[in-house]
Amino acid sequence: MNALHYCYNGFWFCEAILEGTTTFQQNFQAQDTDIILVTAPKSGTTWLKSLVFSITCRLQYKISDKNHPLVTTNPHGLIPFFEFLYGDNKSLHMPVGKPRLLATHLPYTLLPESIKTSKCKIIYLCRNPRDTFVSMWHFRKKILLKFDPSWQFPSIEESLERFCEGVSKYGPFWEQILQFWKLSKESPEKVLFLKYEDLKGDIIAQCKNIADYLNCSFSSEEENEGVIEDIAKFCSFEHLSNLEVNKSNEEGNVPLIENNMFFRKGEIGDWKNLLTTSMAEKLDQLVEQKLHGSGLKLN
Ligand code: A3P
Repeated sequence: MNALHYCYNGFWFCEAILEGTTTFQQNFQAQDTDIILVTAPKSGTTWLKSLVFSITCRLQYKISDKNHPLVTTNPHGLIPFFEFLYGDNKSLHMPVGKPRLLATHLPYTLLPESIKTSKCKIIYLCRNPRDTFVSMWHFRKKILLKFDPSWQFPSIEESLERFCEGVSKYGPFWEQILQFWKLSKESPEKVLFLKYEDLKGDIIAQCKNIADYLNCSFSSEEENEGVIEDIAKFCSFEHLSNLEVNKSNEEGNVPLIENNMFFRKGEIGDWKNLLTTSMAEKLDQLVEQKLHGSGLKLN
């Protein structure tokens, strides 16, 4: 154990999340229609949640509707994390109806058996490690200083050292990525593997990709009516981060985190503002070594 984390079955957790994780593992019963979104923290979870909610619920809620749930509720309020759902936060509830949309940051090996054996579908989103690390660094700093302004926050060098040792929330980050990458190759009907950078590159193609994978493809009428463009625009960083609900410092469905904390810059390449070339190279070398032979490239 160190000051912040416990190592459980090879992955690092803080105490509160570990409790929710073990309860989830023991109690959750997956349904064949469940859709599980998996990410490492700061990989674009909020974006993925908004996209999948908009796509799967589009018959019930038109994206142009002024009362669309995403206008009034932060994406984490609509798609809860298992770890918090099964933690001691009594304000969180298991979604009702079908499909149930749920999320987690857990690696595949720590998911309950019923997720593995049922026909439920998993969407995994990863992001290049440089931007993920930098995003996490800013996020942790904001949270820790909020609770204790005198906190001796570790330097960027020290934080990177630990990240590269695998000691980060739910880390080692490469283990989780590799688990879902391999599974997506072996069982493409079980896991759709996405990259943040690909969503940025062609969001329309990726919305179609998500809808096809979830067996709710866009019809040609929807395509002609611009439904996909509307969803992409609605879920863009610019739009989502400017909604009142997401600008607020209300603590939503992730304990202790204000809604606005999920939105910072939403860009590719912001690592350049924090990491030196040698730091970036160190991380790249580690990633190359860890992913060697997998066929996966993260850049
Ligand atoms: P930055 O800190 O680099 O800006 P998560 O949702 O997994 O916590 O990840 C948060 C990161 O995703 C933050 O990255 C945040 O700004 C970015 N983000 C949030 N909403 C986004 C959106 N709609 N489109 C693109 N990026 C988004």
